Amino acid sequence: MVKWLKDAVFYEIYPQSFFDTNGDGIGDFEGIIEKLDYIKDLGANALWINPCFDSPFMDAGYDVRDYKKTAARYGTNEDLKRLFEEAHQRGIRVLLDLVPGHTSDQHPWFLESKKAEPNEYSGRYVWTTHAFEGIGGHPYISGMSERAGAYMLNFFASQPALNYGWLNRTEHWMSAVDSPEAIATKEAMKDVMRFWLDAGCDGFRVDMADSLVKNDDENKSATASIWADVRKMLDEHYPEAALVSEWSNPYQAINGGKFHMDFYLDHWYNGYNTLLRDYETGGEDNSFFRKGAKNDITRFLDDYLPKYNATKENGYIAMFTCNHDTPRPARTLSQDELKIAYAFIFTMPGVPFLYYGDEIGMKYLDVRTKEGGYQRTGSRTPMQWDHSPNDGFSKGRKEDLYLPVDESENAPVLSDQINDPDSLYTFTKKIIHLRHEYEDLQADADFEVIYGEKEKLPFVYRRGNLILAVNPSDKVQSLHHPVFNCRNIICSINQSEINGDELKMDPSSFLILQ
Ligand code: GLC
Ligand code: CA
Repeated sequence: MVKWLKDAVFYEIYPQSFFDTNGDGIGDFEGIIEKLDYIKDLGANALWINPCFDSPFMDAGYDVRDYKKTAARYGTNEDLKRLFEEAHQRGIRVLLDLVPGHTSDQHPWFLESKKAEPNEYSGRYVWTTHAFEGIGGHPYISGMSERAGAYMLNFFASQPALNYGWLNRTEHWMSAVDSPEAIATKEAMKDVMRFWLDAGCDGFRVDMADSLVKNDDENKSATASIWADVRKMLDEHYPEAALVSEWSNPYQAINGGKFHMDFYLDHWYNGYNTLLRDYETGGEDNSFFRKGAKNDITRFLDDYLPKYNATKENGYIAMFTCNHDTPRPARTLSQDELKIAYAFIFTMPGVPFLYYGDEIGMKYLDVRTKEGGYQRTGSRTPMQWDHSPNDGFSKGRKEDLYLPVDESENAPVLSDQINDPDSLYTFTKKIIHLRHEYEDLQADADFEVIYGEKEKLPFVYRRGNLILAVNPSDKVQSLHHPVFNCRNIICSINQSEINGDELKMDPSSFLILQ
């Protein structure tokens, strides 16, 4: 296991929207560099930067045109290397976003692959033989190339699927997973990884990591073995590099694929979804952290505990406040509710990720789609730094901004919160620093549920020798348990009292006992 992950707290940066230093309305590498001291002060010691590579931006950069060249709008390769150096000087690691499942349809590999004349890249993507042949229920495009055949899509129409082979081969054009063309694709991706690791990055967040081998078995074992092979390369040559998968199946990603961490994504009805965003089910928001909801922690625990127990020896489940694909938690939760939610997220096992702007409770905005964002665009708006024009995000013209800033009267702004002892920002910073201070709160310290009953509160859990309790409801909650005897409070939100073995918690409260 990569040691530094034990105490890692990640900050996800959507580079377009973080900080613009040259007034063109788009965030840039220099902007990230200028804010590194801010990030360090907040307590984050690692970054995940969304794709920052050359791209036609049909999917905000998840359509890569050149894996080895940064997008000019963010800066040069040299600027990105300087970002790595400046980050390292402050003890901050940097993960880039690797998109291994597909490229842009403008990638030179694909332009070659489309040619009728067979060449080195003919087998780099998934193609049928005939233009009138479909790909067994998978989305495909035909009629766009001189090459006869249809090509498979991995996501949007602009993102042709790279060819890692098929496990269950039912058609003659399906490559085997050990065919030369499938192996060449894998090796090309390892080459990209080495290129950036040698340049100084500290690892990768891996996009759609489960999407490589087609017609894989139900355990995705063929895809997992590709990652196990990548992991072997890292263990041998880059033992400090970390990989986090967008997979959301830790059995497959951590145990099978040997990823260091796997994201617990917001999928309808899974455990994570019930915490912060349980409102797709029919209007009513039933999230655990919403005051006045049923506050049932068992819906989370029933899903989480088996996953945690089955994978904790091999890697970490990565829980996040939000990401660039997910509605901001402030869409429905108040700043007070968010404090309790973050208290929980940053004291759980595994590795926590904070999405830029969530530390001030930035809202989910109703904005027009940008670069293939669609409903995700509302979580991608510029960081609200201060009350200068464009919320301090850019000195450019308002009409040039990548996306509009939040102009609502009660838009949260960092400069209002940074010196306010009661702000969401101040609490977020406090809980992150506490995690660094107490090893018992870090990635691999023991986790045990002390009291987590259906629709009952408080929810009480143990991390190492610490006891933590959460009451997100609008009522006083109390509980008798021997574990409360002779303990001191080291952190709390609102009032809690201990008398002998009784814990009594005010509405909307949280505490840590030593
Ligand atoms: C992942 C990314 C998302 C992107 C998609 C296709 O889900 O997080 O933003 O659109 O993959 O690459
Ligand atoms: Ca810029």
